[in-house]
Amino acid sequence: FDAGLRRPLSQPASSAAAADARSLTILYGTETGNAAGLALALEQAAQAAGLACKRIDMADYKVRQLGQEQDLLVIVSTYGEGDPPQPATGFFEFIEGRKAPKLEGVRFAVLALGDSTYEYFCQAGKRLDQRFEELGAQRLAGRVDCDVDYEEPAAAWTGAIVAQLAAETREASAAVPASAAAPMTQAAVPLFDKRNPFPARILDNIPIVGRGSSKETRHIEFSLEGSDLRYEPGDALGIAASNDPQLVAALLDALALSADTEFEHRGQKLALGEALTHRFEITAATPRFLDYWALISEAGALRQLQQEDRAGERSVFLRTHHIIDIVRRYPVSPVMPQGFVSALRPLQPRLYSLASSLASVSDEAHLTVAPLRYELHGETRCGVASCLLADRAEPDSELPVYIQSNAHFRLPGDDTPIVMIGAGTGVAPYRAFLQEREARGAGGKSWLFFGERNFRTDFLYQTEWQGWLKDGTLGRMDVAFSRDGQDKVYVQHRMREQARDLFAWLEEGAHVYVCGDASNLAPDVHQALIDVVAQEAHTGREAAEDYVRSLQADHRYQRDVY
Ligand code: 2AM
Repeated sequence: FDAGLRRPLSQPASSAAAADARSLTILYGTETGNAAGLALALEQAAQAAGLACKRIDMADYKVRQLGQEQDLLVIVSTYGEGDPPQPATGFFEFIEGRKAPKLEGVRFAVLALGDSTYEYFCQAGKRLDQRFEELGAQRLAGRVDCDVDYEEPAAAWTGAIVAQLAAETREASAAVPASAAAPMTQAAVPLFDKRNPFPARILDNIPIVGRGSSKETRHIEFSLEGSDLRYEPGDALGIAASNDPQLVAALLDALALSADTEFEHRGQKLALGEALTHRFEITAATPRFLDYWALISEAGALRQLQQEDRAGERSVFLRTHHIIDIVRRYPVSPVMPQGFVSALRPLQPRLYSLASSLASVSDEAHLTVAPLRYELHGETRCGVASCLLADRAEPDSELPVYIQSNAHFRLPGDDTPIVMIGAGTGVAPYRAFLQEREARGAGGKSWLFFGERNFRTDFLYQTEWQGWLKDGTLGRMDVAFSRDGQDKVYVQHRMREQARDLFAWLEEGAHVYVCGDASNLAPDVHQALIDVVAQEAHTGREAAEDYVRSLQADHRYQRDVY
């Protein structure tokens, strides 16, 4: 936390009484819930310090209020190529657009969340921070950029900013004693959460693709019995995964260090093998790791990649070299274990959309998982959690899990029509939706667009959809098998074929859901939706874009993409 808090705007201390305290708004942009969780913690800290505040999701924020804000604390995460969270898109369009108001009376501070393995680290936060300044707002504190292990820097930022605002308020209310602080609010703390996951027993772990499939998609069932964990359809299961023991062994080998080498890390004594298995990311290399290895290996090639004007080459290098590849290619001897792990990131849990509803599978959590495998430097490389789940999660063994709620992917009222669009494992939450609707006897219409490669092998949960079609829980289903024919057929082709009905459903108030691949499917489906509206409403492109934007603003178009 080195950005340093700025001095508060100079205010004659005597002019402001407590009643004139500046209003405080906590504004957050979230997709998987991290920024939302931090916003809640910030609100609780502010209230505990006696600061009244309101906390609001960018997705729900009335942008016209922006000019009336006084103190604005912003927490926002970044996705893909420096994009804001999808639910915050409208807010970003407004503030970065020409209609954004002058913000001269506003003071602000930005906490940016991101992932330093990506080129556009914390870009959404950087964009807001810069834009607020351009619009004339004053910084309360320098922006703080957090990597995936955001907890500590975020807590430091929260503590510092709350202390600063509370001190100002005390000063402003001069004679009013500081004991005006509100009592600590006692939030209900769930027993098991991200920091304290529940060891869930695996009940079942079976392939759900047929023999000969080009995929390895599996259905995995966990028992939540005894955990008190609850979830809603649309939520995700966090898996506190550990690394592949074979990869750990290979990395130790490349480092010429043994698993039982002991070292100190943040005042704790750790064994290297255990640390590399459970505590640190050891697959993709980060810019920080590259800097560290360039320093200790003194390899000319790595040093050159550090030059300012080599950013393009550096990012290609990072995409094509895992940590183990760098260690093997530029050997160093000896390597100090504490130095090595301090260049690594803490191992992050992975999120999987839940494929079940508690109303139907009480005390269980189901997932649909396709292991990620690819070739790199002549070896098969594996996704950390997906391959753990596919290869090493035996029935009756346990894995640490928690629930990550997702307020941006929620069923509407029972009578509201829903259109569910998904490909591959993206169909998982729709199984949860239909289980829930069946259990509730919900009467609303439903329509599923499902895409996969081959009909014969990859029709995930085929008999379940057919059962729901029969009993009316599912009204319609359109499938797109992309590798059965000469030409690729995707879900968006089916949407276009059904444009008239699809638009009629939208006009009837249907909610639209998209789940699956973020980089290709999501933008293509988005475009198809705009095209369907333009064609059927006989409007131009801009009007159709406005229509789809207003679906988003009304929470009628929700995405869970990864
Ligand atoms: P493909 O792999 O044959 O190209 C699940 O992975 C399904 O999503 C597959 O049928 C896959 O097709 C398909 N898919 C790939 N890219 C897509 C895109 N841009 N839009 C929709 N579906 C896509």
